Amino acid sequence: MIKILFVCLGNICRSPLAEGILKSRIKSLDLENKISVDSCGTSKYHIGEQPDSRTLANAKSNGLQLDHQARQFMKEDFRNFDYILAMDNANLKNVHKVDQTGEFRDKTMLMRFFDLKDKNADVPDPYFGGEDGFQNVYEILDRSMDIFIQWLTEKHALQTK
Ligand code: 4NP
Repeated sequence: MIKILFVCLGNICRSPLAEGILKSRIKSLDLENKISVDSCGTSKYHIGEQPDSRTLANAKSNGLQLDHQARQFMKEDFRNFDYILAMDNANLKNVHKVDQTGEFRDKTMLMRFFDLKDKNADVPDPYFGGEDGFQNVYEILDRSMDIFIQWLTEKHALQTK
């Protein structure tokens, strides 16, 4: 099983949406027994909460139903996951702080490494903005995910439907 972890700050906006998008793709590509997905946040702010109501509404409008309880990133995640994708540079830095020796550096990357439109930019934090910020996040994640899946299936020689 290839294990993917998405990371943002609160785990109620960006990363649960990324998780939902990838899960939906995995299902349509018939890769559910090959790839597993989870998400978390680097802060404690929303531990145990469901995604933000605006995240849920946005997901629904894009045909996705999210089912996730916020949790905080932990050291064990480095061992439990193969690819750790941070939504922005600040949270990538937060993740790296937990890996003081740099042992797991190769497992970590920025989500928008896979965005052909604006490579290595941040997925902007939509928390303090309006609904349109959530749709912007969705669109960034949606197009980046296609490239990420392409990269992953090539790297691991996965057969897709
Ligand atoms: P997320 O968004 O990191 O995409 O889940 C945020 C959620 C909550 C906060 C900041 C960003 N907050 O400050 O509580």
